[in-house]
Amino acid sequence: AFPKRVKVVEVGPRDGLQNEKNVVPTPVKINLINMLSETGLQVIEATSFVSPRWVPQMADHTEVMQGINKLPGISYPVLTPNLKGFQAAVAAGAKEVSIFGAASELFTKKNINCSIEESLERFDEVMKAARAASIPVRGYVSCVLGCPYEGKISAAKVAEVSKKMYSMGCYEISLGDTIGIGTPGSMKEMLTAVMKEVPVGALAVHCHDTYGQALANILVALQMGVSVVDASVAGLGGCPYAQGASGNVATEDLVYMLNGLGIHTGVDLQKLMDTGTFICNALNRRTNSKVSQATCRL
Ligand code: HMG
Ligand code: MG
Repeated sequence: AFPKRVKVVEVGPRDGLQNEKNVVPTPVKINLINMLSETGLQVIEATSFVSPRWVPQMADHTEVMQGINKLPGISYPVLTPNLKGFQAAVAAGAKEVSIFGAASELFTKKNINCSIEESLERFDEVMKAARAASIPVRGYVSCVLGCPYEGKISAAKVAEVSKKMYSMGCYEISLGDTIGIGTPGSMKEMLTAVMKEVPVGALAVHCHDTYGQALANILVALQMGVSVVDASVAGLGGCPYAQGASGNVATEDLVYMLNGLGIHTGVDLQKLMDTGTFICNALNRRTNSKVSQATCRL
């Protein structure tokens, strides 16, 4: 049975923009987040406190955090790879953070420059500091359905890393199909393994749409009881350390599907589409949302 309501986690300002080649002006980022805040979304991932040498696009993280209107009832989590990032995030006013690991050794090395084991040690430091500051932590696991460097990733490995991050105290584990390579079959197999280690109520799915499978994969996750889904307005995005990775599932398309299923999200589709139009105009690109393409009659 499907969940009655789904929490949509908007990752466009972070996952969407981090892969843009040209630096997006800070006021555009702030405007994007402020518009998203008016759509009914409860969670808007705002930026990353990563090294500006690794991801120059996120170098204005502090200005973004301090420039946005933080509305009550909405959380604005940020990515923090290590204690340094965590401390900078808290200093900038972050009230929630996300740590990000992977089920692939090579991806972990390329993305955060360490082994999986070292990453878990770093995350443990972040968890301890977060607990002391009463800051909730979300945990990402990347490459859950395949890795750009290692190829196939076993469901058992995904379950193992997810369990470790959940046991550390992450309140939610977001399972990332970083390169969008999964299918409903591999999604089902992976979730079956992970759900033996982490309660389904603490799981989210984070699907990139590289192979056009994102909505189908999300549908399977919903059928298996997952009720938190990550998405990016206008389908912006990709990962700078996963070549050829395209954007996340478009939030507009996800909300359209959930509306059709009678699943409550609280998100206003029209306002979301207007936000997509704004950011696509600002970036001078066409939307990746099929729903927006259909409705705008370009
Ligand atoms: P490193 O070079 O190994 O770091 O990078 P280090 O500890 O050796 O330090 C080197 C320098 O970086 C030092 O500065 C540090 O202070 C500085 P120096 O003394 O040389 O002047 N440094 C920092 N500066 C700012 N913020 C920090 C920070 N930490 C150290 N937090 C590091 C290691 C993790 C920092 C680097 O690899 C990094 O920033 N990686 C981030 C990569 C990234 O953002 N990837 C995209 C997000 S993940 C994703 O998109 C997947 C996801 O969407 C899910 C999915 O789709 O699967 C979440
Ligand atoms: Mg991603």
